Amino acid sequence: MKQFLTLDDLPNLHQAISDGILLKKDPYAFEYIGNRKTLGMLFFNPSLRTRLSTQRAAQQLGLKTMIMNFSNESWNLEFEDGIRMGGLSSEHIKEAAGVVSQYCDVLAIRAFASLTDKEKDEQEIVLNSFIKYSNIPVINMESATSHPLQALADAITIKENNLIKRPKIVLSWAPHPKALPHAVGNSFVRMVKQLDFNFIITNPEGYELDPKITGDIPIINSQKEALKGADFVYVKNWSSYSNYGKILRTDEEWMLTKEKMKITNNAKFMHCLPVRRNIVASDDVLDSDDSLVIEQANNRTFAAQVVLKRILENG
Ligand code: CP
Repeated sequence: MKQFLTLDDLPNLHQAISDGILLKKDPYAFEYIGNRKTLGMLFFNPSLRTRLSTQRAAQQLGLKTMIMNFSNESWNLEFEDGIRMGGLSSEHIKEAAGVVSQYCDVLAIRAFASLTDKEKDEQEIVLNSFIKYSNIPVINMESATSHPLQALADAITIKENNLIKRPKIVLSWAPHPKALPHAVGNSFVRMVKQLDFNFIITNPEGYELDPKITGDIPIINSQKEALKGADFVYVKNWSSYSNYGKILRTDEEWMLTKEKMKITNNAKFMHCLPVRRNIVASDDVLDSDDSLVIEQANNRTFAAQVVLKRILENG
């Protein structure tokens, strides 16, 4: 594997899930593989889990890490070609990517959506510019449109906790006071589509994810109807896609509560974190034994380890 931008870069998701579970049992089994190599981690947005789990994954593979926060530590980068740089940007991506790739063997990048310009966000300018102007592999640590490391960790978590042949998985929109990107929802959909699950999405009208990604997956506007018989409930907020980046409603009606969980088949609760308590989900859901959120975060390490190992094995 030469790069990891979306889940499609994994040749076999089932194999990647199994590899993650094996690495979890013996995290240092491939400690030699990253010897004398460095992972550069570039953040254009904040992170807790992604930063620490990817760093831990790297360490368990013997890699050294370098971390740069572009929001407050580095020069403002210019991504447009041929521009006269008379504004705020002090350095062009051509030099920055060329320089960084001298210091590192693999790059991991986090660069969220602007949520103001759909076309630009879908071009994934930050990720694609680093790919274009660096000559080393690039890993997506959440881009404008996808968060594949989260989706792989979620797939590992479902595999570990699933007791039946074809579980019902529900992806439910939830309220949030801020406009959030679609990346987690998109990658979760892409992941579940590759596995043989009974899958349904529920969201209020106007909050449909990109139809190019959801395809023929059933989408219903009744959360209660969707939750009936669910084995896993994955809750996540995203802003409107059709009315790009806009918040259409913030009311509590869609918050996941213990009462709603009673409609399910004793479902496990999932969320990528960070989560706003008593807005996205109630305390009693998050604190219940059915919540998998801490396990999901733990599995981020092994998802990152699977991806890093494959990239390192590629030479
Ligand atoms: N789930 C996730 O990506 O968490 P962070 O934003 O804290 O990295």
